[in-house]
Amino acid sequence: MKIIKVKDYEELSARAAEIVAELVQRKEDACLGLATGGTPLGMYRKLIEKHRLGEISFKNVSTFNLDEYCELEKTHPQSYHHYMRTNFFNHVDIEMDKVHLPEGDTADHEAAAQRYNQLLKEARIDLQVLGIGSNGHIGFNEPGTPFSQETFVVRLAEKTRNDNKRFFNSLEEVPEHAITMGINNILQAEAILLLASGKSKAEAIHKLIKGGMTEEFPASALKNHKNVTVIIDEEAASLL
Ligand code: F6R
Repeated sequence: MKIIKVKDYEELSARAAEIVAELVQRKEDACLGLATGGTPLGMYRKLIEKHRLGEISFKNVSTFNLDEYCELEKTHPQSYHHYMRTNFFNHVDIEMDKVHLPEGDTADHEAAAQRYNQLLKEARIDLQVLGIGSNGHIGFNEPGTPFSQETFVVRLAEKTRNDNKRFFNSLEEVPEHAITMGINNILQAEAILLLASGKSKAEAIHKLIKGGMTEEFPASALKNHKNVTVIIDEEAASLL
């Protein structure tokens, strides 16, 4: 794993956006794996800026998001469909038929997971962007998930629902299930870029960098991958 230590969130966002932009400039039909959550928001803002300055076009880019909550309508303010539109897609020239997220709002979640898995098998993700949960999850692969796991319907860990309740009015509103790419899907990406910022990620980053490989800590699966870059700020690196 290549570790890039930066000062703060601003610098982390800039470095991440540079890596994505460099790929899209080099390969105009790049396939990006995208994440939601608080961490990549700054990266999306910087990519939008670069697009406005005419430095990058997403016209031929295709995307696959890691995950989506079950039971939320696509228009729900906390759905990842809504997040991606408002924080990124609506502000760049991407073509929406090249954008993919799991369909968490369909009646049959298992079938939706299988369909997404099939799409992933037919695609080739050039760069997968990841955040990391405070419990080490990547996507919504919670501790104990086999490294061989493919796209599935997951029951979210209480830790994750608690971490994410800041985006909702109450814990009760946080969905109990999500559809997520499995760890094995994530590992198929050509390159992986994991971002971590802030003290709340320090313990997870310590385990990722200093610890061994164990299914109890899902992000440790990345040690199996040949091209992983981790960008961490000073607070996330504070226990190293
Ligand atoms: C998001 C995702 C999650 C988040 C993780 C960190 O699509 O799959 O794994 O990356 O929960 O979230 P934040 O960035 O909000 O701390």
